[in-house]
Amino acid sequence: MITVFGSINVDIVSRVAKSPQPGETVMGSDYQLIAGGKGANQALAARRAGAKVRLVGAIGDDDIAGRALTELDPAGVDLSDVAHLAGTTGVAIITVNDAGENTIVVSPGANARVSATQVPPDSFSAEDTLLLQMEVPHDENRAVARRAAAAGARVVLSLAPFSPIDVEQLDPASIVIVNEHEAADFARHLGLSARGETAVVTALARRLNRTVIATLGPEGAVASGPDGLIRVPALAVTPVDTTGAGDTFAGVLAAYLDEGATLEAAMAKAAIAGSLACTKHGAQPSFPTRAEIEAAI
Ligand code: RIB
Repeated sequence: MITVFGSINVDIVSRVAKSPQPGETVMGSDYQLIAGGKGANQALAARRAGAKVRLVGAIGDDDIAGRALTELDPAGVDLSDVAHLAGTTGVAIITVNDAGENTIVVSPGANARVSATQVPPDSFSAEDTLLLQMEVPHDENRAVARRAAAAGARVVLSLAPFSPIDVEQLDPASIVIVNEHEAADFARHLGLSARGETAVVTALARRLNRTVIATLGPEGAVASGPDGLIRVPALAVTPVDTTGAGDTFAGVLAAYLDEGATLEAAMAKAAIAGSLACTKHGAQPSFPTRAEIEAAI
């Protein structure tokens, strides 16, 4: 079983011809409210890929709260440990331009008060996977991660959005996922001089002493660690919206690893799923089913 401990947002999305620069006002489409949040996205992606998934997080009691769970509930994600707190729900203000690229500002709301104590006792065994991101307090992430690792569970951390944390703060995650920008930021933060995606990922994996996976958009993904160097391709697609593609990769990777796939096989499916997620608008509505992933392979 996969436990996702993380953020739940409502995305307020406007489509624009070109992304606004600082100081610039641009006209966009009518806004859409779409369920999002990196934790919720990864939970749904893993569930659609066939895994049994529990999401632990929090929403507020504002008017928008009900929107946040609209895709997760019908998909069969276990939401019993989602807290309903007084105050605002997490919101992401997103623009998506004609190239499918986005800008995102997150207002954390209830996500800032997610607590490790929400995860029930005896939640983890050696057969389980814990999936984490960086939109909830990292001390809470670590408290849950320690419990999962003590029970022998696999711990996967998606280092998004990037925050300049110290190497010790990654413990006890055995797999760290970054995108190409987060990989470069992390390497710079650690004072690594490597240049080029493969060299950066290899240097990060050596320094962090664990598996590091970097997603590379249309170039697929690359990993370095105890399983050696692994490269997998993306699917050739015309992107309409890349929002949530990285979350799709993380959720689908966790789903296949949780059922016993090798790292290379899980990465191959995850990269295909991430590409498919770029072909539709919005985060959660764009996540592929297991049948769609397998058919694309
Ligand atoms: O990764 C995409 C997600 O980032 C969006 O759904 C938004 O909610 C932000 O958390």
